[in-house]
Amino acid sequence: MLRTAMLAISRNETVRRGMVGFGPTKKVVDRFVAGETLDDCITAVGRLTASGLLATVDHLGEDTTTRDQADATAASYLDLLGRLAEAGLTASVEVSVKLTALGLALPGGREIATANAERICAAARAAGTTVTVDMEDHTVTDATLAVVDHLRETYPETGTVLQAYLHRTPDDCARYAVPGMRIRLCKGAYNEPASVAHRAKADVDAAYLDCLRILMKGDGYPMVASHDPRMIEAALAYADVAGRASDTFELQMLYGIRADEQARLAALGHRVRVYVPYGVDWYGYFTRRLAERPANMLFFGRALLGR
Ligand code: FDA
Repeated sequence: MLRTAMLAISRNETVRRGMVGFGPTKKVVDRFVAGETLDDCITAVGRLTASGLLATVDHLGEDTTTRDQADATAASYLDLLGRLAEAGLTASVEVSVKLTALGLALPGGREIATANAERICAAARAAGTTVTVDMEDHTVTDATLAVVDHLRETYPETGTVLQAYLHRTPDDCARYAVPGMRIRLCKGAYNEPASVAHRAKADVDAAYLDCLRILMKGDGYPMVASHDPRMIEAALAYADVAGRASDTFELQMLYGIRADEQARLAALGHRVRVYVPYGVDWYGYFTRRLAERPANMLFFGRALLGR
């Protein structure tokens, strides 16, 4: 219930303005977001890669309302890729993009988002790295996968995200468990209706395990995006049963969450990638993190009270 309420509040513009302008919020945001500038981001991913981790960088933004905004977001990704290449980081750092940030929800949005994503894929390839397309709420799942399919005709290295809570996802996993396909499997972070998604945690967890099994048995490259010890343990067991070598799948976690566990898994020889968000438009990302876990809310409350 707390999660549902928090996700609903996250769409409220008055609350958004209050939180963004409130000084102590910043301190908490810094735990989950690598900073507001490109310099902050490069410093953060440099630190992660130096400690043996991989990274994927998200230039924060969603709900883009103008073409200029969409094009500016794409331009930010080109700058980001240029800086990653300059810093010699592209062997271990890729980028993650949200298609709504690239214009998907605008009139004629599919063409705009596709054109912007193509620019980013081309720049990523030139820099020696890849793009993974994030998954947003269920109203854009079909459109997102259609754009990904199109991108993969020219850039087959492009990956995407599937959300285990959606009833459709086992079928999508089967469709995408093919050679060369990079699929990031997460539980799903949006407030979805029961008609399209599992809502009880036990059902989401069971669905995640089913999807994981399909991906691990298949021929693609599974990216196991979860902080849940049960999911991680299952992923390693399923990979073992499928006879997968450690370089044929990845474990992925968000920046600032279970950093000790990220380091521990990497030290055991697993490929561990950290999802690193940066930028000024952190509000939507940040409130989804708060909604995920009561402990994150408590952390937020304590920080606001200065404890
Ligand atoms: P969940 O929240 O179910 O928690 C299960 C257990 O994990 C907890 O009981 C605890 O043991 C452990 N745990 C979780 N959080 C912890 C914390 N902060 N500290 C300590 N232990 C913790 N979603 C989406 O809809 N679209 C997307 O594109 C993406 N992309 C994405 C990329 C990556 C790399 C990750 C890791 C996640 C996403 N997500 C996402 C978010 C995802 O859907 C989901 O909301 C969160 O990962 C939370 O689910 P978990 O599986 O991590 O654990």
